[in-house]
Amino acid sequence: MSSVATVAIIGGSGLYRLFDPERSESRRVATPYGSVEVTIGELGGRTAAFITRHGSDHSVPPHLINYRANIWALASLGVKVILSSSAVGGVSPEYPPGTLVLTDQFIDRTSGRADTFYDEGSVQHLAAADPFSPELHEIARRALAHENLMDSGTVVVIQGPRFSTRAESLWFRAAGAHTVNMTMYPEVPLASELNIDTVNLSFVTDSDAGLTPAAGTEDPDAVSHQLVLARLAEAQPRIVAAIETIIRALPGDFAPRELIAPDAVAAVLSRSTP
Ligand code: ADE
Repeated sequence: MSSVATVAIIGGSGLYRLFDPERSESRRVATPYGSVEVTIGELGGRTAAFITRHGSDHSVPPHLINYRANIWALASLGVKVILSSSAVGGVSPEYPPGTLVLTDQFIDRTSGRADTFYDEGSVQHLAAADPFSPELHEIARRALAHENLMDSGTVVVIQGPRFSTRAESLWFRAAGAHTVNMTMYPEVPLASELNIDTVNLSFVTDSDAGLTPAAGTEDPDAVSHQLVLARLAEAQPRIVAAIETIIRALPGDFAPRELIAPDAVAAVLSRSTP
């Protein structure tokens, strides 16, 4: 199996394995931030790397994920494109459970997460107006044209691990968010800081704090951890098929944006590993 992968998939809750086990191999990649398990396998006609954000036993909560180690590990393998797969709650009624979303903006409501590689070495300010790659977004949009898809969406990323209050959820909606999640920040800007472009495929599992309950009733789509896991398990074949469709549509020679000077990125990647 090649040790070079230009494409990576980062899977969230419910997505712990992606490749044929007979044709993939897992290894621990050392990084300056800690080591990471990466699986290299074949998908959509490509060699791809796969990381499962919460660990294969779902033991790492969103606020404790080692985002810098994950992204550094992928960059060290030669990754240029990340397809991130996420479970989200719908805070807008136009994003009901069951919808696939190509997220193209985020609002960061996390706190205290290590969210840059440039807190030592050179000073860098990442341009973040388009945090996801517009070019990859367009490729994915065309590839998934047959799907029940929202081809644009703003996610609000909360710190977790608790879900939002009803007041927070309504506030996020009023602020222009369509979905809510706990992991898209700082994963996406960290990738951009190493000149890796990201496209995000989200699956709406729930209606967050419950958007349309009749007086005195429970919204059957209101979020709970069990509901998210059950809906993801049910939707797994559809999500994996959509991931494969996007990977297949990627051009072999895709060149990511250079949002940070290449010599600054090289300096980060030359940091020593323990
Ligand atoms: N992931 C899936 N549903 C969610 C929700 N309602 N809030 C935060 N993260 C989620």
